[in-house]
Amino acid sequence: MTQIFEAIKKSAVRIKEAIEYDDTGYSDLQNATGDTQLKLDIKCDLIIEEEFAKVASIKEIVSEEKEEITPLHVDGKYLVAYDPLDGSSLIDVNLSVGSIFGIYEGGQAGANILASVYVVYGPRVELVIASDALHFYRLNKKGEFIFQKDIHLAQKGKLNAPGSTQSCWEPKHKKMIDAIFNDGYRLRYSGGMVPDLHQILLKGGGIFSYPATSDLPKGKLRMLFEVFPFAFAYEKAGGKAIDGKNRLLDLSPTHIHDTTPCFFGSNAEIQRVLETYAQ
Ligand code: F6P
Repeated sequence: MTQIFEAIKKSAVRIKEAIEYDDTGYSDLQNATGDTQLKLDIKCDLIIEEEFAKVASIKEIVSEEKEEITPLHVDGKYLVAYDPLDGSSLIDVNLSVGSIFGIYEGGQAGANILASVYVVYGPRVELVIASDALHFYRLNKKGEFIFQKDIHLAQKGKLNAPGSTQSCWEPKHKKMIDAIFNDGYRLRYSGGMVPDLHQILLKGGGIFSYPATSDLPKGKLRMLFEVFPFAFAYEKAGGKAIDGKNRLLDLSPTHIHDTTPCFFGSNAEIQRVLETYAQ
């Protein structure tokens, strides 16, 4: 596992450089979900694949940018699922983006996730490893990730990050989000899952939601590359992650690109979601 974390750190340093200096334009290609890929999406995917190819314990990799699982080492035991450059549509406006990794053993199911990692490329590069606890690192000038602290969520926070198209919300969801704002929560939403969820973790708590909507009845965010890694991180920080009713890590995708509605937060806010969605 340590070697996987080291490979992710090396990838992150290379991706940071690519973000800072490479062409931010589109390629002529589309990814598995039909999004036109940025040249940077393709480059970041290749960087990660190159670094993971050197790690013998990785059996298979699956990227948000690819349709199929790629076998790596027959004697390896882990499947690593990753989104090389999440929120890449924010690159052209110079907002923060991220990379997300889920490390699984025994198949693609929430229950099989052993660890997760995410990297935030913002004014600084930060990396968070969820294993036994949630460990927070920051990149220094020498290209090393220096441990800062373990992250713990408070029981109740102050931030609200409501994703998706509001005109497509169910009335009960709208009522819940309005009630949260009426209780004094602040809107904090950039449209990048990594910085938005990172902010809630570091500021002590709140709620991020990407519900089922009339345009996307199964939500937008992908279980293997986005949802399970953050569900694991939020639970390690003492928070919760649910699909409205069920724990996210109890779900299993039938296809690698399957999505799910998702809510991540501290305990008080997730309790509100459970009460709302029980109706
Ligand atoms: O999955 C890509 C992504 O950009 C996430 O990083 C982000 O949370 C979400 O889409 C934003 O979607 P929307 O703009 O619909 O709220």
